[in-house]
Amino acid sequence: MKTKSITVSPCRRLQGTLAVPGDKSISHRIAMLASLASGTSTVRGFLRSEDCVTILEALSRLGAHYEFLGDELRITGTGGRLVRPGAVLDLGNSGTGIRLLAGLLAGQGFTCEMTGDASLRSRPMRRISEPLTRMGATVELLGGNGCAPIRITGGSLRGIEYAPPVASAQVKSCVMFAGLFAEGVTTVVEASPTRDHTERLLTAMGVPVTVDGLRVSLKGYGAAGPALTARPWVVPGDISSAAFWITAAASGEGHAVELPNVGWNPRRNALVAVLQRMGAAISFQESGDAAACETMGTIRVEGRRLQGTEVGGAEIPDLIDELPLVAVAGALAQGRTVIRDAAELRVKESDRIRSVVDNLTRMGVRVEERPDGMIIEGGSAIRGGVTVDSYGDHRLPMAMSVLAMRADAPVRMEDIACVNKSYPEFWDDLRILTGPQGALP
Ligand code: S3P
Repeated sequence: MKTKSITVSPCRRLQGTLAVPGDKSISHRIAMLASLASGTSTVRGFLRSEDCVTILEALSRLGAHYEFLGDELRITGTGGRLVRPGAVLDLGNSGTGIRLLAGLLAGQGFTCEMTGDASLRSRPMRRISEPLTRMGATVELLGGNGCAPIRITGGSLRGIEYAPPVASAQVKSCVMFAGLFAEGVTTVVEASPTRDHTERLLTAMGVPVTVDGLRVSLKGYGAAGPALTARPWVVPGDISSAAFWITAAASGEGHAVELPNVGWNPRRNALVAVLQRMGAAISFQESGDAAACETMGTIRVEGRRLQGTEVGGAEIPDLIDELPLVAVAGALAQGRTVIRDAAELRVKESDRIRSVVDNLTRMGVRVEERPDGMIIEGGSAIRGGVTVDSYGDHRLPMAMSVLAMRADAPVRMEDIACVNKSYPEFWDDLRILTGPQGALP
């Protein structure tokens, strides 16, 4: 999708079957682990989006090779010996890319630098520099105020026990990746459980990972790192991409949508529980695929009239990327919806409390901004004929499209190139489910 803006029309009936693209978090992690391994890994379902191609490019500068053969990605790893890149690594907009790669680089015996776009360079990086420094790496945050560019001099790591101040799978994974190159045991003690893709993938590659409640531990392999072997992988469909269609179909009577091969990680599917609590009719049928290391299956959704709800506490990390959609569902539901304990939204690709509140307000929704969330009064008419601002944040135009489908007139989405970060086929898929007039350039 090359156009910079698009118009989304109201839609009476959303129906059909759709295969959503591969999971972004899992694609990043497989790319990194396959690059460390010996031999050529094959990957089916890899997400071919801007973020994921960015990480593949960074890994190829560190000595790995990749090529797409039709739908299959092949990654030939470095056999554990990443090479010092000749230039600064540009991680674009990828928070997962820069934070997880920092963990691997902390284990290498060279100095290198990573940067990203303006949004990435404004996001907090002390959350990774602090534990990596404690493990023995030298980590400089060159952007000031705790931000990228990041210069890392790695090597000679020791295992630590670390309790991150925020519940973050990126921080956990960064520390675990560094822990692979440390002497001794590395333990992350989580405040709340977060997505466990790294644990599952490492286990599948033969690295013993111990999980004891909120404590996740692995024994390091020292400076040489682990001897990982290439293998075939399958990436399930991304539930965070499926989430747009789940919310759209769940919140309107008469809609019926089926989404096969979607990942069903228990730390990722809380949006479904929240929508069910609001009255949605959603079912899941497991199909499974051993090479995915994750449960996957078909999600079926039928539209219903929804009631408002409250989300907060330990539920937040399990639907962190779906909170803009909880706000949208709240706007379409009867009664009040409250989102709290979600201050982390302020440091995502945009300040997602500000950007969601602004766009909901433009569309006539009564919403109150809170430091750690928002309060939405549902049930008002959704105002069309307005323009949505993406704030350069991929999830914004996609979430607001769900609301636009229910507006009283078409809605213009501005600055939508950011959608290519995670879901380049989004507008085509919207037309599949709504009909060809659903989205027009
Ligand atoms: C991710 C973890 C989450 C999530 C992000 C992807 C990951 O970030 O918001 O989209 O792949 O580990 P945090 O770890 O910062 O919560």
